[in-house]
Amino acid sequence: AQPTLRLLNGAEMPVLGLGVWQVPDGPACEGAVTAALETGYRLIDTAQAYGNESSVGRAIRSSGIPREEIFLTTKFHPGRRDPLAEMEKSLERLGTDYVDLYLVHWPEGGPTRAWPGMEAANVAGLAKGIGVSNYSAAELEELSKVSQITPAANQFQFSPFLYRRSLVEACTDAGIVAQAYSPLGTGEHLDDPVVEQIATATDRTPAQILIRWAVQKGLSVIPKSTHRGRIEENFDVLGFELDEASVEALDALDTTGETSDAKAPSQKWWS
Ligand code: A2P
Repeated sequence: AQPTLRLLNGAEMPVLGLGVWQVPDGPACEGAVTAALETGYRLIDTAQAYGNESSVGRAIRSSGIPREEIFLTTKFHPGRRDPLAEMEKSLERLGTDYVDLYLVHWPEGGPTRAWPGMEAANVAGLAKGIGVSNYSAAELEELSKVSQITPAANQFQFSPFLYRRSLVEACTDAGIVAQAYSPLGTGEHLDDPVVEQIATATDRTPAQILIRWAVQKGLSVIPKSTHRGRIEENFDVLGFELDEASVEALDALDTTGETSDAKAPSQKWWS
């Protein structure tokens, strides 16, 4: 079985998933999700704002994999009014009875605005878990003052170049699982010389180095690709470990200016 991280609601979320941001609805999206499921991915991450939930749903249904074996995430478009009503529409597009995780896509209108409706979607059983995306530590703190249900996850951009130690730590302290999107910097970090050098030395690819780094920081990671070969490559990061020197060299690529030592990951499944 592939490694998972335990959410506050007791669910197990796979460490590795496929993100489908910017993948057009239709054959490209359906093909990517199909390739991912055939490769062994069991976490698929979409959003109302991506406009491709129908393709994600079709690929999941036609895979023949039992729904309960797949961890499905979508996100509330915070430009809309009612998270519960939008959840129902998402489920119709996805062709399923529930999602495993429903995230506030970004804190538009303030970090607490959408939360009562998110909780309603959770209580109604339509979203087994609820969480947030693109929240800062301060926004998590503000939400914690009014929430009945603690967010299960916070999804944000994370890579060695955007090594947000204090945000990871704030999540860990609150029991919130941190999830990394754009671990490859939307592809821009793949030709960085330090990343390339570590890839060559370990006989891995730059994408695998970046994904593995985020995994070793204790995050769930959702690289995006529409190419089967890359989808397979990105999933093949569980059979090796970056040594301390490599991790330190990658840590040093950080551009956030944060210097504090990050705590060890709270859920370290690989050793
Ligand atoms: P494509 O979808 O054409 O394969 P991120 O996950 O950081 O947002 O990065 C996604 C970008 O990186 C996409 O442009 C994707 O292109 C590209 N990409 C994803 N995986 C790989 C890989 N293994 N090798 C090279 N490029 C990749």
